[in-house]
Amino acid sequence: MKISICGKGGAGKSVIVALLANEFRARGYRVLVVDSDESNSGLYRILGFDHPPIPLMELVGGKKGLRDKMAVKFSSGESEPKMEVLSLDKILVKDIPPQHIGESDGISLVNIGKILHSLEGCACPMGVLSREFLAKLHLDQDEVAIVDMEAGVEHFGRGVETSIDRVLVVVEPSFESLELALKVKQLAAGAGVNGTWAILNKITSEKIAIRLKDELGKRGIEVIGIVHHNPKIFEACLEGHRLDERIASKEASAIVDTVLSKI
Ligand SMILES: Nc1ncnc2c1ncn2[C@@H]1O[C@H](COP(=O)(O)OP(=O)(O)OP(=O)(O)O)[C@@H](O)[C@H]1O
Ligand SMILES: [Mg+2]
Repeated sequence: MKISICGKGGAGKSVIVALLANEFRARGYRVLVVDSDESNSGLYRILGFDHPPIPLMELVGGKKGLRDKMAVKFSSGESEPKMEVLSLDKILVKDIPPQHIGESDGISLVNIGKILHSLEGCACPMGVLSREFLAKLHLDQDEVAIVDMEAGVEHFGRGVETSIDRVLVVVEPSFESLELALKVKQLAAGAGVNGTWAILNKITSEKIAIRLKDELGKRGIEVIGIVHHNPKIFEACLEGHRLDERIASKEASAIVDTVLSKI
């Protein structure tokens, strides 16, 4: 099962990725977190890793190497780069070279690539690599991949979702976040994803939750879980610490129950 977590910048995507990873792991799943956000680099910390794994981008010659391949493809008349950047047709988690996959307390982590320098060019190669890696990634029944997407919707333009089973959109209490959820739902449907569900985050009262559910309902989006505003989450994010598996575990458990019951 491949699940992507998307939403507006700062809505809480990485926090939700960590909460769900903890919960799936607690249920005996082998969890692979895919860090597909080329800007932010702190996901490894809230997952409890000391350092991030070497980006998969390095496996394909770095951004330059991948961009060169894309340029060759474009110049040969292709409308979009569909070249093979990863040599295997099917990638099993155990095939990923050890320096490119971290493991901490039953959760594995891969990192697609990060923007590191000014003027290094756009992040399109990261999108291409994310798309191809996820499409080739083969998971067993007891494995789940949770993808931390970059903020916004550009990843849909790059086709990253084409092999994703479910898109979960994180919605915080703001109009922008609601509007982005609608956009995500439409784009996910266009990418052939069967269902987009919302997770409400940073919720401070039942009243707010009801309002957001109502607004999302008007946009045709079902809410499958709520994570309240939680001082422990805030503190862990402020300090750059691991999100302990006890934090918001009941809320994460309810979300995973719903996801599993619907898939
Ligand atoms: N449930 C919560 N309770 C309290 N604070 C939260 C909660 N969820 C997120 N936050 C706060 O929101 C901040 C942003 O969360 P997070 O980094 O998960 O968002 P994001 O959507 O991944 O952001 P980006 O778009 O930058 O990747 C955190 O640093 C934390 O301060
Ligand atoms: Mg994030």
